[in-house]
This record gives sequence, structure tokens and C-alpha cells, in this order.
Amino acid sequence: MVFDIKNKIALITGGAAGIGLAYTRELLRNGAKAVTIADVDASKGEKSAKDLNAEFGGNKVIFVQTDVTKADQLEAAFKTAINTWKGLDIVINNAGIMNDANWELQIAINCNHVVRGSLLAIQYMGKNHGGKGGVVVNIASILGLQELAGCPVYVGTKHFVVGLDRSFGTPFFHNLTGIQFLTMCPGVTDTPLISEAGRFALQGMGNIAKELVEGLGSLPEQAPEDVAKGMITLITKGENGSVWVAEGGEPIYEVKIPQRQTLRK
Ligand SMILES: NC(=O)c1ccc[n+]([C@@H]2O[C@H](COP(=O)([O-])OP(=O)(O)OC[C@H]3O[C@@H](n4cnc5c(N)ncnc54)[C@H](O)[C@@H]3O)[C@@H](O)[C@H]2O)c1
Repeated sequence: MVFDIKNKIALITGGAAGIGLAYTRELLRNGAKAVTIADVDASKGEKSAKDLNAEFGGNKVIFVQTDVTKADQLEAAFKTAINTWKGLDIVINNAGIMNDANWELQIAINCNHVVRGSLLAIQYMGKNHGGKGGVVVNIASILGLQELAGCPVYVGTKHFVVGLDRSFGTPFFHNLTGIQFLTMCPGVTDTPLISEAGRFALQGMGNIAKELVEGLGSLPEQAPEDVAKGMITLITKGENGSVWVAEGGEPIYEVKIPQRQTLRK
């Protein structure tokens, strides 16, 4: 399906910095009308909104301080976005951390927030609630498609996103809501999530921090802007339920996940 980003209104969680900020800028570059950044970091969020408004001329970005682990705050961000821009077409559930040492918080952000953000998107954009449909992109990782010894819980959270999104991306939900659910799996991307990963490995597991740093270091690297370019391809061309990889600064590609019946050893 072809989706036109021109004049569309987006909400991005975790959009104050890192890859989320790059998504915001790339959406505006591609003609989006407005973006709401929902992020817990007020100083980065305010600054990013100010910088982007200066760069793109005018009132196109608002920042709403939001801890995505708090249901009321996440819903408030959706309400503020809709009241401000009078619509909502694209939701990117991007906020995420790599922190197996605090795995409960990691699951709250990487999994629970993605569920809640998807359900809120259905509530506020779904045809079943009087809306006109739209696009939801949930952010997994290449670690949603492979194992890595250094961060087993993070890997689990990203597999969760792939399974959740593929299931929301079935014809049942599309017929009900008119929303396309797409999955983005970035490869290793140069942000603090990667550069500080070793500090947040599981505790009491021997040399796991070294294992994690070496494991991540063995994978091809890229810049946030590389993933953001891929996001435009994904939103404009991705089929409902499709899963895409953006790795090593190469053009984004779709992955085919085998039917489980073919997996028997
Ligand atoms: N960097 C990578 O190599 C990489 C690879 C694959 C997937 N990802 C995924 O991409 C997404 C973005 O990662 P990044 O590398 O840009 O990370 P980052 O640490 O650079 O930025 C994350 C953003 O999320 C915000 N955030 C953290 N906790 C939050 C909370 N509770 N509520 C609201 N906002 C919160 C932070 O303030 C920050 O602005 C994550 O889901 C991550 O798992 C990253």
C-alpha cells in the first residue's frame, strides 16, 4: 500500500533524542504537517522541539513530557497531540532502553508501552472508534530476529514487539481499524543506547558486559539518519504486518518470517 506523508500528523515516543529525533526530522523533511514528541527528558525534548521549529519554519513540533510507563501520561500525550493538531495519522512507538540490569523497567518501556501505544492508536485513529485509520510503526530491533548472549532480556522484549506487531498487522485488525501496523528493526545505531550498553548488562553473570559490548561491536554500525531514511520507505511503501530491517546504512529491506510448520528440525 502507498501512504503519502504530506500533511500528515505524527506522534513519536522517545523522539527527543537518538533515532526518534531523526525520525521526527525526516518526517518533517518529507512534508509531514506536524509532529508531537512524547519523551520523558524535558530538557532534550524542549530543545529538540525548538530547534526543529526553527529549522522547518514555524509551529510544527510540540514536546509533551511523557513517561511512557505511566498510562495516564501516555494517553495525555495522545490527547494533547490531537487537540493541538486536530488529527493524528502516524504513531511511532519508539521509546526503548537497553537495560537488562533493570529488566522490569526495560519490559515496562520496551513492551508495555508498545502495547499501550498501539491500543491508544486504535482508540484515537481506528475506524472502529470513528477515526480514519493511519499507520503505527513499532520499533523492534535486529535483536528481535536473532539471539545475543549479552542482553537476553532486551532480546526478549524486541521479539515481543515483532510478535505483537505482526498480529496487529493481520487483516482482522486492518478491517476493524483501518490502521497499518509496521515493524522497524534497526541494526546497531550510534546512540547512547549502544555506547553505554555495557553499564547496564545483567548483574552477577561473569563477563557478560564484555560479551555484550563485543557482541554489539561485531555488528555493522550506522547513524540515526540512516534508520530515519528507511522509516520513510517503510511508512510510504510497507505492507500491513510487514517487518523491515535497517542495518549498516544500507537501504531498508523486508524480512520474510517462515511459517512455524517449516521450522521442525
Ligand atoms: N541504537 C540502536 O542501535 C538500536 C538498535 C535497534 C533498535 N533500537 C531501538 O530504537 C529505539 C530508540 O533507541 P535509541 O538508540 O534512539 O535510544 P536513545 O537512548 O538514544 O533514545 C531513547 C529516547 O527514549 C527516551 N525515553 C527513555 N525512557 C523513556 C520513558 N520512560 N518515557 C519516554 N521516553 C523515554 C529517552 O529520553 C530518549 O530520548 C529503542 O526502542 C531502541 O530499543 C535502537
